[in-house]
Amino acid sequence: MDILVERAEGVMTIAFNRPDKKNAITAAMYQTMVDALNEAQTDTSVRAIVFRGSPGIFCAGNDLEDFMKSPPIGEESSVIQFLRAISGAEKPLVASVAGAAVGIGTTLLLHCDLVYAADSASFSLPFTQLGLCPEAASSLLLPRVGGYQAAAEKLMLGEAFDAKEAQRMGFVNRLLPAAEVDAFALAQAAKLAALPASSLRVTKSLMKRAAHHEIHTQISDEAVHFGKMLLAPEAREAFKAFFEKRKPDFRQFD
Ligand code: COA
Repeated sequence: MDILVERAEGVMTIAFNRPDKKNAITAAMYQTMVDALNEAQTDTSVRAIVFRGSPGIFCAGNDLEDFMKSPPIGEESSVIQFLRAISGAEKPLVASVAGAAVGIGTTLLLHCDLVYAADSASFSLPFTQLGLCPEAASSLLLPRVGGYQAAAEKLMLGEAFDAKEAQRMGFVNRLLPAAEVDAFALAQAAKLAALPASSLRVTKSLMKRAAHHEIHTQISDEAVHFGKMLLAPEAREAFKAFFEKRKPDFRQFD
């Protein structure tokens, strides 16, 4: 199973489990997560949700082979449904990042309530390097959380940055030794699970309410551009280059 879904003491854990491909997410994996998140939404025994990776890697983003062979386009795609599920989740979302978080591996964190990372974790948003544009409302949320120039550096250059910087930007709560992050995140989720669910639900919705509509719209607007760019020659060149283990050559494009 490329996604492991476990439930224990009020906490649902969704774990990326495709380490041979650095936990890159396929359409089937998004669908498994959507189903789990939808279940969590209505199952009163689930009181908090934790995302985690596998040892040494959080998530290498969307599967680039999927991007090449069956580009996800439109509101019905499992990736957009996943984004709707995390941006609309009423229950607390906690993330444990013990390794690289690339693309949606980083942007999903902007929808989590608590984010814990290994001090050795790294983050990157290589959309422009792939001929793409931001997704998951990151073009709205990252400037908001980290300030415009910090966000522009990450979203325009697309270079990896370290955990200290992610914490400084404001979307990581706390840094821990790699071996301790999963247990700490789970313990924080267990604390949430022990609190009154109604109180957490109202607290989260009050914090999220004002931005809900613009996040929804931004996800749609980004997806229109993203869908077109996935089919454009720049992105095709970038994906091909990745699998041929070479640098892409964008000089041929205007
Ligand atoms: N989609 C599909 N396959 C991926 C992948 C992705 N996003 N990320 C990694 N893989 C595969 C590699 O092709 C490789 O497969 P192989 O063993 O069959 O050759 C395997 O996972 C290991 O990846 P590798 O690049 O050798 O690992 P690394 O430790 O040197 O680097 C990353 C790890 C995550 C930094 C690097 O794999 C990477 O940059 N991946 C692409 C990230 C990306 O662009 N994501 C999309 C963002 S929108």
